[in-house]
Amino acid sequence: MVMARMLNEVKSAPIADPGEPAATNVCWFEQTEASVPAEEDWLSPSEAAHLQRLRIPKRRCDWRLGRWTAKQAVAAYLNLSHEADSLRKVEIRPAPSGAPEVFIANRPAPVSISLSHRAGTAACLVARHGTDLGCDLEVIEPHTDAFIRDFFTTDEQSVIARAPAASQPLIVALLWSAKESALKALHEGLRLDTRDVRVLTNETDFNPLPPADAQTWRPLQVSAPNDLLFHGWWLHGDNLVRTLVASPRPALPKTM
Ligand SMILES: CC(C)(COP(=O)(O)OP(=O)(O)OC[C@H]1O[C@@H](n2cnc3c(N)ncnc32)[C@H](O)[C@@H]1OP(=O)(O)O)[C@@H](O)C(=O)NCCC(=O)NCCS
Repeated sequence: MVMARMLNEVKSAPIADPGEPAATNVCWFEQTEASVPAEEDWLSPSEAAHLQRLRIPKRRCDWRLGRWTAKQAVAAYLNLSHEADSLRKVEIRPAPSGAPEVFIANRPAPVSISLSHRAGTAACLVARHGTDLGCDLEVIEPHTDAFIRDFFTTDEQSVIARAPAASQPLIVALLWSAKESALKALHEGLRLDTRDVRVLTNETDFNPLPPADAQTWRPLQVSAPNDLLFHGWWLHGDNLVRTLVASPRPALPKTM
């Protein structure tokens, strides 16, 4: 009941309320496969050992790209050197949940990060330590009706159905990506049902679709169990949708 009331309030309220308290600074950093060095001297000894254990070429490639992107992002955020000697000391370790945690010279770093890799591109979202963060990249491509029925709430299915056919692949990618961002911010990933996180978008933001080269972040919200509400942003371009959510509420992301 409380959740239902909250959702109604959210839906009837403007998504970005300029009167809200100051938001948390978040930084978005992207790299592509082409930028990852062939050498491995930027990996710590335990990261290099982990890479050795990864047998599937795609997983190795994605993991290297994700680690490279995260280390570059942390170095930029903390103003560290980008030389291999310095990057080697920046370690991205998975927590038991799978969520990435940053250590520098074996000590917890004063940052929180989230990672995503898709189709040869990786993104890393960085904020000060203690921020709950999630980011995600999705390719804009057609999905089956069964996929939409199985993984989206009835409200989300209605948003997709109301959109012009040409916009539907982007909207499906956006809703899916926003869910994954929220599932990462909860440190749950796909252990939760994707319908337990509900994406609240402003339909006028994609009806008509913003041009892909506009490079404009647009607001979104995702509600989660226990009355949690994440604020976030989305952007599309290069056939990818980018989403992020954070708690406390993120300011417009700074692209590094
Ligand atoms: C988190 C998850 C939803 C991301 O999946 P995805 O969209 O395919 O992949 P992305 O590239 O966007 O994100 C992967 C990154 O998410 C991060 N991640 C993984 N589990 C996470 C969690 N529980 N919370 C936050 N972040 C997580 C990791 O940094 C991972 O990259 P890495 O393994 O190279 O370090 C998915 O990996 C998941 O649910 N994992 C946990 C449950 C699990 O292991 N299930 C087995 C398969 S269903």
